[in-house]
Amino acid sequence: MPRSKIAGIGMYVPEKVVTNNELKQYMDTDDQWIQERTGIQERHYAHRTEETTTTMAVEAASIAIKRAGISAADIDFIVFATLSPDYYFPGCGVLLQRAMKMKEIGALDVRNQCSGFLYALSVADQFIKTGMYKNILVVGSEKHSFGLDFTTRGRNISVIFGDGAGAVVLQATENEQSGILSTHLHSDGESAEILAMYNPGTHANHWAEKNYAAFDEAEIGQMFMSHTMIDQAQNFPFMDGQSVFKKAVVKFPEVIMEALYKNGYNPSDINLLIPHQANLRISQFVQQKLKLRDDQVYNNIQHYGNTTAASVPIALCEAWQKGMIKEGDLVCLAAFGSGFTWASALLKW
Ligand code: UT7
Repeated sequence: MPRSKIAGIGMYVPEKVVTNNELKQYMDTDDQWIQERTGIQERHYAHRTEETTTTMAVEAASIAIKRAGISAADIDFIVFATLSPDYYFPGCGVLLQRAMKMKEIGALDVRNQCSGFLYALSVADQFIKTGMYKNILVVGSEKHSFGLDFTTRGRNISVIFGDGAGAVVLQATENEQSGILSTHLHSDGESAEILAMYNPGTHANHWAEKNYAAFDEAEIGQMFMSHTMIDQAQNFPFMDGQSVFKKAVVKFPEVIMEALYKNGYNPSDINLLIPHQANLRISQFVQQKLKLRDDQVYNNIQHYGNTTAASVPIALCEAWQKGMIKEGDLVCLAAFGSGFTWASALLKW
């Protein structure tokens, strides 16, 4: 049975850097609060009109494809993870396929927020193991800066997120010594509303107390995206940060240990852990819990903020570019986020 390995990796972050102090012009916040609670110093914001989730993905994907030594025409399938798509539908997968002038290959969109890249990687891994595809482009890309509440009301969320993209070419290999050893996916929908963006959506409208049974279809249609929704700031993400934090520090170590046990390893065997960059305090907690040394964990949230589906491939790419990952290294990827969903992947580089 073929295995899958990362044959090429790329990342892209927009040029514009926004420091914590710069956010003070929009909301009541301060550098010290943000750094103490999250570790974040700055983040990148996409160009308002010229950059989208898809254009950033194209940049990252082009690098990954080049580094894999193949061309866009060799890609058999796309798996695209994002929570900030260019359009409500269609998803970014087909926009990427068009932008990169690829063949009429399948393009799948994954909606698993912070765990999105790991879900995408796992899906791609299964397609390669069955022999169906040989080169799959797996992408995580986000343009958060266009959908945040830049007022004091939204400060607990807006200061955290940043824009960027990461991509890998997952390729079939017969080499038993390298590649993805296993992936592990989980969810618990009980807490779906704790970290969510409710609108626009087809749910029973959280944003106003009304008897919707009394409305006809035309009126309901107007409510999908209404002035009331915007006036009440219901079109922004919501997060109960403390509840997310408490669950994250339990589920991160759990899903990492699951991957290690499955393959007969211990935390001390990890060469590099790449945790989803949600909060530096969460990563530090996980590191302590697993008794990992500083050189076994890679964090870059300080400079990019939380880029949700893009954070794992960006961190993996940056660590690799810095020479921190060598052939034969045991690399663990892990994520936790909205859903809740959480996931891990263990691989031999
Ligand atoms: O990747 C997706 C998964 N997400 C996460 O993993 C996030 C997990 N949660 C967290 O990282 C933390 O909960 C946050 C960093 C989001 C927030 O930290 P916290 O320690 O939980 O703060 P809090 O929400 O409990 O707020 C504490 C105080 C409040 O003021 P009062 O009510 O005590 O007066 C907030 O209004 O801090 C205030 N606050 C801020 N102050 C300055 C909230 N946001 C800010 C801000 N600047 N940006």
